[in-house]
Amino acid sequence: MIEVTFLTNGGKTVSAAENSNLLRVSLREQGGIPFKCGGGLCGTCKCLIEKGIENTDAIKPKERKHLTDEQFAAGYRMACQTFLTGSVSVSWVPKAVAQPARPVAVDGE
Ligand code: FES
Repeated sequence: MIEVTFLTNGGKTVSAAENSNLLRVSLREQGGIPFKCGGGLCGTCKCLIEKGIENTDAIKPKERKHLTDEQFAAGYRMACQTFLTGSVSVSWVPKAVAQPARPVAVDGE
C-alpha cells in the first residue's frame, strides 16, 4: 500500500493500492482535488506533487497541453493522468470561494 496526503485538505492522509490513479484516490477518499472531465481534457485537476514526484509515472502527452516544462520540473502533474508507484503529498489551488450575490439596486428606492 502507498499513502496519499492531500495537503490542501488539511493534510488528510489515506492509503491506496500501488499504481492507483491520483484523481481516483481523491474521489474515493474525498481528498478534494478539483476536476471536471477526468479524461485529460479540461486541465482542472492540475496539482503540485510536493513530495514523492519520483513516485509518479511518466508524463502523458495530454498533460503537455496544460503544463509547461517548467511546471513539470517544479512537480506539477494532472491528477487524472497520474498513476502512483509510491507515496505522495499533493497540493492544489483551491476553487475560488463563491461570492454572495450583490443586492440589485431598484430604481426609485
Ligand atoms: S479532470 Fe480534466 S484534465 Fe484532469
